[in-house]
Amino acid sequence: GGLFGKGGRFSGQVDPVMEKFNASISFDKRMWQEDLLGSMAYAKALVGMGIVTKEESEQLCEGLEKIKGEWEAGSFTLQPSDEDIHTAHERRLTELLPSLGGKLHTGRSRNDQVATDTRLYVVRKERDIIKLMGDLLAAGAKLANETKGILCPGYTHLQPAQPIRFGHWVLSHVSPLIRDVERLLEIIPRANRCPLGSGALAGNAFGVDREGLRKELNMDQVTSNSLDSVCDRDFVVEFLFWHTLMLTHISQLAEDLIIFNLSKSVIISDAYSTGSSLMPQKKNPDALELLRGKAGMALGRAVGFTATLKGLPRAYNKDLQEDKRGLFDAIDTTEDCVQIATGVLGTLKVDAEKMGSGLCKEMLATDLADYLVRKGVPFRETHHISGAVVRVAEEMGTDIGSLTLEQLQNVDSRFEADVMEIWNYEQSVERKCSTGGTSLSSVEEQIRKVDEFISMI
Ligand code: ARG
Repeated sequence: GGLFGKGGRFSGQVDPVMEKFNASISFDKRMWQEDLLGSMAYAKALVGMGIVTKEESEQLCEGLEKIKGEWEAGSFTLQPSDEDIHTAHERRLTELLPSLGGKLHTGRSRNDQVATDTRLYVVRKERDIIKLMGDLLAAGAKLANETKGILCPGYTHLQPAQPIRFGHWVLSHVSPLIRDVERLLEIIPRANRCPLGSGALAGNAFGVDREGLRKELNMDQVTSNSLDSVCDRDFVVEFLFWHTLMLTHISQLAEDLIIFNLSKSVIISDAYSTGSSLMPQKKNPDALELLRGKAGMALGRAVGFTATLKGLPRAYNKDLQEDKRGLFDAIDTTEDCVQIATGVLGTLKVDAEKMGSGLCKEMLATDLADYLVRKGVPFRETHHISGAVVRVAEEMGTDIGSLTLEQLQNVDSRFEADVMEIWNYEQSVERKCSTGGTSLSSVEEQIRKVDEFISMI
């Protein structure tokens, strides 16, 4: 085996380890649909090139349709000599159409073929992922809406900072995911360009109608330079970095949920938790830990493949075959993570009481400073005064909300009776009513915008 497509120059047998080392069929067979689409488009283009008649072109397409049927029925069988999906299909087509099959590859190379297949595959998957991301955003918007009435601690440096609405926290993770969808929508048109007709590197010697190929394949543009076309893997790198950033966002969401889960303020559905093989009481947030962990390998894939590209000479080199495994893993991981994250958010229960017990009066120290600001005292001064109040409470072993008016006035005489109204989390939250804030109206406005975005994708 291993000689198909190599032709007359080769006589000796290939080292079987080399055969395995060189082959990509075990993983690139997942692009079978795209490879057939590309070949059908090319079979049609061959008529204009004067290589086959209209009838022959139709016969080629029928042969390719038959192969499609075999894949769909699960009856397509790989031969040991099938190095990759392209040679496998050509081998099968020549079995079906012994002399005509050999005309399909006229002027075409596996170099422009694989670039086309991979682009078509990535674009199809990117579109699938946008749909999945839409479900995730919708689950986020729904959860935010259901929990907009629940107050929770907002942290900086993992220290209690200011009270916020839980729905506001949810939306803080929806926002980056919306940017991820925007970015994905931006990279698709660059991936969806057609390199078919570039030949091995120098172009097509039979006057192929590349614009016709582009149209046939529903792609956005024809690539501009044949040398670049066969080695441009920017679209792979763009997806790899895209998924790294998106999974980084999911990782941050997971980490926050793991923290909320510590106090049982959130309850992760059994569907996304696991038990311990030893400790019967355990319910571990494994889904969240996996979501948190996936970004690491994602970054590795992005960095690894970029390093593979660095220093490559023009044009096609077999190094480029290394694009696929990482890309396919990236796509699979992305699809899994987005669906799991959607499931986790869609089934999350929030315990308002436990969430509330995470609040403490010190989280209103800024509100206390703002109180004096509203009486005309400069903020730098009120910040200092409120800090002094915190220190007094600490020294007395109590919290700032338990201090009497007199004790407050001892720190600053400008505190009046109405200062006692400060110790109200709900009102603190409601004062943050400008755009993007945590008041109910601001949160509802954010949810509206998320819904609007979802309806547009
Ligand atoms: N299996 C190869 C790949 O994935 C296809 C292109 C092979 N071209 C070549 N000149 N060896 O990149």
